[in-house]
Amino acid sequence: CGIVGYAGYRRAAPILLQGLRRLEYRGYDSYGIATLASEVCVHKKAGKVSDLPDSQGMLQGTIGIGHTRWATHGIPSDVNAHPHQDCTDKIAVVHNGIIENYAHLKRELIGRGHTFRSETDTEVIAHLIEEAYAGDLLEAVRITLPLLTGSYALLIISAGEDRLIAARNQSPLVLGIGDGEIFAASDITPLLEYTSRIIYLDDGDIAELKPDSYSVYFGDSPAEREIKEITWTPDTVQKGGFAHYMLKEIFEQPDAIHRAVHAVSEETLPSSLRQASSITVVACGSSYHAGMIFRYLIEPVCGIPVRLELGSEYKYTPVPFSDVIIGISQSGETADTLSAIRKGICNNVKTVAITNVLNSSITRSAHDTILMHAGPEISVAASKSFIAQVGVLMQIVNILSGGRCHDILDHARYALEQVLLTDLTEAVDLCSKAQHLFYVGRGVFYPVMMEGALKMKEISYIHAEAYAAGELKHGPFALLSPDTPVIAICTPGPAYEVMLGNMKEMKARGTPIVAFGNEDDGDVSDIADVVIPLPKAHMWTQVLTSTVLLQLLAYHTANRLGREIDMPRNLAKSVTVE
Ligand code: G6P
Repeated sequence: CGIVGYAGYRRAAPILLQGLRRLEYRGYDSYGIATLASEVCVHKKAGKVSDLPDSQGMLQGTIGIGHTRWATHGIPSDVNAHPHQDCTDKIAVVHNGIIENYAHLKRELIGRGHTFRSETDTEVIAHLIEEAYAGDLLEAVRITLPLLTGSYALLIISAGEDRLIAARNQSPLVLGIGDGEIFAASDITPLLEYTSRIIYLDDGDIAELKPDSYSVYFGDSPAEREIKEITWTPDTVQKGGFAHYMLKEIFEQPDAIHRAVHAVSEETLPSSLRQASSITVVACGSSYHAGMIFRYLIEPVCGIPVRLELGSEYKYTPVPFSDVIIGISQSGETADTLSAIRKGICNNVKTVAITNVLNSSITRSAHDTILMHAGPEISVAASKSFIAQVGVLMQIVNILSGGRCHDILDHARYALEQVLLTDLTEAVDLCSKAQHLFYVGRGVFYPVMMEGALKMKEISYIHAEAYAAGELKHGPFALLSPDTPVIAICTPGPAYEVMLGNMKEMKARGTPIVAFGNEDDGDVSDIADVVIPLPKAHMWTQVLTSTVLLQLLAYHTANRLGREIDMPRNLAKSVTVE
C-alpha cells in the first residue's frame, strides 16, 4: 500500500491524488483521500486512482491524507478503501502495514459499543483514537500506539485540529520539507516534484506536521532527525515518451548495469563478504532469481558455496551455517526478506543488504548495505532493478576472484545497447496465441529462464513455467503439444550439446520452439521454429543480453494482448506483509 499526506497552503486534494498516482505501484485495488475543512471530508473508491478524471477530487481543505491499497484484510471495495473513520466521523486514518491483534481489539471495541463499517484491520485504529481523544490528537495517538501489535505507517487527521499526525513502526514513512508546506509519504517518489529535502522517520517515531513547522517525537521525547538532500529528480519518475514505464525502464538498463557494476569496488566491498567461506542468499521473486544466478556464477569462479533461500521459507529452516547472509531486495521493504535478515542477526551472522532504496528498512537492519543505483523503478514488474542486482552480484564475484571478470563487466553496457532493438515479432506472434509456455535452460540460464517466465506470467497473464531443461522429460513432457510453445536457450558452453538434444526431443512431440542461440548458429536454427539471436559473447554477457530479450518478449506479448503492463492485476511492487 502507499500513503501520502499534505499540510500546507495549497488545496490538498489534487496534491494527494497526484501523490497517489505516483505511489500506485505499491498497490492499486482501491484509493481514497480525506481532507480537513470545517469537518473531515472523505472520498474513497475501489479501483485505480489513475482511472479518476482530473476534475474529481474537489474536496476542500489544505491538510489531508491519502492511500492506495493492496488488499490484505477485506476485499477491494469502496467500504474497505482507506481512509477509515471512527463512529463520529471526526477522525480519519490511512495505514500501510498489518495490525496483527486487530481481531481481538475489534471484539473489545464492539463490546464497548463501536460500530464497524469495513473488514479491515485499520479501522480499529480510528476507533481506538476516538476513545483516547480528549481534545489533543497527538496525545490520543500516543495512547493508542502501544495497544497495536504489528507494522504500521500511519497518517491521521481529526476535525478541529489543523495538523496531521504521522507514526511509523516497521513500515516505511518519509517526510518532505517544503516552504510553508510539508509532505509525508511511504517513499520519496510522490515528493520529488515538490522538494528534495527528506526526513526518513525511524521505527517508534511520531511526527506532528503543520504547514510551517514539524516536530518529531520518539515516544514522549522530542527527537532530532536529519534532513537529507536527495538527488532523484521528478523526470526520473516520468514515462519520458515511452508507452509504458516498463519499456522505459528496460531501455534504461545499459546505464543501470553500468552504475550497478560501479556501485561496489574493492574498497567498498563489505569485509564480511571479502572473508566469507560460505554465503547464504535470501530473497523473493525476481531478487531470488538474481540470487540463483549469483550461485551459478560464484561457485565455479571462487569456490565459495552458496545456499539460496526464499525469504518466505527461511523462517522454517535451521540456524544459518554460513559466514554471511546476503538479503537481496530492490525495494528494501519485502517483509519475508527482512525477517530473514533479522533472523541472521539474532544468530550472530553478518548480514549484507543489496537494495535500490536508500534508507529502506533492510538498510536499517543489515550490518552492511550495497546500493545498486538503478534509479527509481515504477513498473511493478522488475526489469532494471533486476539487471542491477545481477550487475552488483557479478561485480562481487569479479572482486572476489581478483578481477578475473573485469573486461566482461566493462563491456556490459554496450552489450545491452546492442540487443534493445532486436525484432521479436515472430516470437511474439507465437507466444501471444498460447495459453501455456515452458521456459527451459541449463546451468546459469535456468534462473535466467525463471525470471523470463515470471515476467511473462505477471504482465501477459499467460501461464509460463520455467524448468531446468533436463527436468522437462520427468513429467511436463506429458503437457507438450503443438499448442504449448517452449522457449529455450542454447548457447555455446558446457550445456550446448545436451540442450540441442533436449530441443530435438521436444520438437519430436510437435512442440513449437523459440530458441535463443548465437547469431548464425545453424544447428539451433535447424531445430527451432523461431530463433532469437544473441550476439556472440562470454556466457556472463549472454546472461545479461538474454535477460533483456526475455523482458522484451514478455513486454511485447503483453502489449499485443492489451494488458495493463505497468500495473498487472493483483500485484504490488513492494510486498510488506509475510
Ligand atoms: C514483489 C514484486 C516483485 C519482486 C518481489 C520481491 O512481488 O512485484 O517484482 O521481485 O516483490 O521484491 P524485492 O523488493 O524484495 O526485490
